[in-house]
Amino acid sequence: MEKGRRNLFVGWLGIAFWFLLIVNCAAWIPAQRLIPHDNKDSSPPLKLSVSHKHVEMDNGIVKVTLVKPDGQVASIAYKGIDNVLEYRNKEIQRGYWDIVWSRPDIGKGSFDTLHATSFRVITETKDQIEVSFTKTWNVSYGDNGFPLNIDKRFVLLPGSSGFYSYAIFEHLEGWPDINIDEARIAFKLDQEMFNYMAVSDDRQRIMPTARDRSEGHVLGYKEAVLLTNPDNPDLKGEVDDKYQYSCDNKDNRVHGWISNRPHVGFWVITPSDEFRAGGPVKPDLTSHAGPTSLSVFFSGHYAGPNFSVKLRNGEQWKMVFGPVFIYLNSDSGNKHSTLWEDAKKQSSEEIKKWPYSFPMSSDFPKANQRGSISGRLLVRDKYINKQLSPAKLAYVGLASPGVVGSWQSETKGYQFWTKTDENGYFTIKGVRANTYNLNAWVPGIIGDYQHEGDVIIKSGSQIQIGDLVYDAPRNGPTLWEIGIPDRSAAEFYIPDPAPGLMNKLYINNSEKFRQYGLWQRYTDLYPTEDLIYTVGESDYKKDWFFAHVTRNVSRNYRPTTWKIEFDVRNVIRAGTYTLRMALASANFAEIQVRMNNENARRPDLSTGRIGMDNAIARHGIHGQYWLYSVNIAGYKIQNGRNTIYLRQARGSSPYIGVMYDYLRLEGPPTT
Ligand SMILES: *[C@@H]1O[C@H](CO)[C@@H](O)[C@H](O)[C@H]1NC(C)=O
Ligand SMILES: *[C@@H]1O[C@H](CO)[C@@H](O)[C@H](O)[C@H]1NC(C)=O
Ligand SMILES: *[C@@H]1O[C@H](CO)[C@@H](O)[C@H](O)[C@H]1NC(C)=O
Ligand SMILES: *[C@@H]1O[C@H](CO)[C@@H](O)[C@H](O)[C@H]1NC(C)=O
Repeated sequence: MEKGRRNLFVGWLGIAFWFLLIVNCAAWIPAQRLIPHDNKDSSPPLKLSVSHKHVEMDNGIVKVTLVKPDGQVASIAYKGIDNVLEYRNKEIQRGYWDIVWSRPDIGKGSFDTLHATSFRVITETKDQIEVSFTKTWNVSYGDNGFPLNIDKRFVLLPGSSGFYSYAIFEHLEGWPDINIDEARIAFKLDQEMFNYMAVSDDRQRIMPTARDRSEGHVLGYKEAVLLTNPDNPDLKGEVDDKYQYSCDNKDNRVHGWISNRPHVGFWVITPSDEFRAGGPVKPDLTSHAGPTSLSVFFSGHYAGPNFSVKLRNGEQWKMVFGPVFIYLNSDSGNKHSTLWEDAKKQSSEEIKKWPYSFPMSSDFPKANQRGSISGRLLVRDKYINKQLSPAKLAYVGLASPGVVGSWQSETKGYQFWTKTDENGYFTIKGVRANTYNLNAWVPGIIGDYQHEGDVIIKSGSQIQIGDLVYDAPRNGPTLWEIGIPDRSAAEFYIPDPAPGLMNKLYINNSEKFRQYGLWQRYTDLYPTEDLIYTVGESDYKKDWFFAHVTRNVSRNYRPTTWKIEFDVRNVIRAGTYTLRMALASANFAEIQVRMNNENARRPDLSTGRIGMDNAIARHGIHGQYWLYSVNIAGYKIQNGRNTIYLRQARGSSPYIGVMYDYLRLEGPPTT
């Protein structure tokens, strides 16, 4: 099946052409006009064939071959192409679910591609094929393997230009402790076919090959490679790093690859965030050189090792990941934008259909088994607005009960998020029946909102929760502020990369922060003296470096101290001032804040060592959010010039530091 595939391509094409011309003309006209699912009657019939080593699902548009009983995707045939996956890899290394697990009880752990041991057909009708590959564990296995039952499902529908996959992970009560650090589904595509990658409207490019990477020069860590001898000479001298293509959950709906000839797109569509851990702004990987496409359900990227699913003391846990849709499209032209736009359109259609009605597992509740909640969120911050003001375009979400803000590191449960409209109204639909906390955060306002008390969603329930009021952290009027409170450092100064370390994609791109090596640019800009920001003169867009990093003094990475200079008149010596410091990221960092005395033994605030989100090295613009408030006695403030010293006190690595989200000094309360 894999040898001479180009010749086969032509042969198959001849037969397939007439077949498809008669049965399904639409398959040969541009992709955006492929037959939609609801047009089942005119679609070719579904075919399922099960042999000793393989399971084949065919709907006349795609034919998916799965390894039996392991449950990996060996091939995806489409438009006369035998396999869009990398046929040079072993069958079990082309399209697969995987996890990284460890067992603290016996000190073992591993990356695992979840080889199933048992196969069964869940349904085979004219409307749907669903197959299941399971792997089970039981206590008699003792120290062997990892204590999870896994059920991997693959679904094919008639008239659909792709297939679905989802999986159910389960840890039974009483089973040993386990950490699951990462879970994803991965696809390795044919290296000769796919060379153009698209992760968003303005993040698309011709990519280096795996060989270009292996022949390149490894930079600060193995993922970052300088392309020294690429096949495509245009790429010479560029940096490639998979983390340059990361994306926040909320924006990660569709990404994938395009082949020039035949003009075919391969797309991973993730229609919902409900099964992705960490909420709407948790970043993770998408597609990257290989060519590889992933749907990552959770990982410690941009969050830290705490982010794993940790199951302790025999706790029961079950979670459904997906379904995700693997979509293929093609046309007879050569404009990649046509395939990308069509993939986006398909992605919106999948989102509209969420929650899907087809999954046969009862662990995936259908729309009528889910509930909804509606309400309005208002903000009280009397120093911004005397009245309550609507929380515009705020993020509102249900997550497992926990302390305020815990949703951002919550991994074990489903989360359901939406955004409010201009007037603060929101509706969260399609919520699984369960007990949650209602959380929110509002761009432009610091901190986290959590509704007091649990929210219980029942099957079919439509809760109207009414007006909710977020009392934003606030003690007094703003004396000055730096940045925009939105959990990101994107508004600050982002330098150009060093000339020899570019990814050309990001030269003129709104996500310039994804360039490699920007941490070193701080030392280039501030070789001996640290950053000084003067309130009233400086502009945070130009004068506030986006990350508070170490200084590289001949490879000794030293702590740095930034200064904020500001004038105050009519100091209220008996009053209490408040400094708000919101961080968009922290990595092994410690920020010490001192008012007007750089050498004070006791800082006014020390964060202690915080964070392991590694967002600096991974070209993020945010990781996890931290908010600090510190009271400063009026007598520490002078009439005239004052200085706040922000010392990042931890050294030893270029990737240690924080990104500020926002800083604000408030005066004492006014009446
Ligand atoms: C556990 O697995 C073993 C080996 O597959 C099997 O013989 C045994 O019946 C299983 N026990 C339970 C309780 O399922
Ligand atoms: C950057 O983008 C702007 C606006 O799209 C354009 O005018 C300019 O020529 C671009 N510069 C480079 C170097 O591509
Ligand atoms: C630190 O500076 C040295 C030169 O003093 C340079 O060789 C090295 O690459 C720099 N480190 C980083 C992480 O850029
Ligand atoms: C990890 O979690 C523990 C316990 O919740 C917490 O004390 C610690 O600060 C966390 N570490 C990081 C790096 O976030």
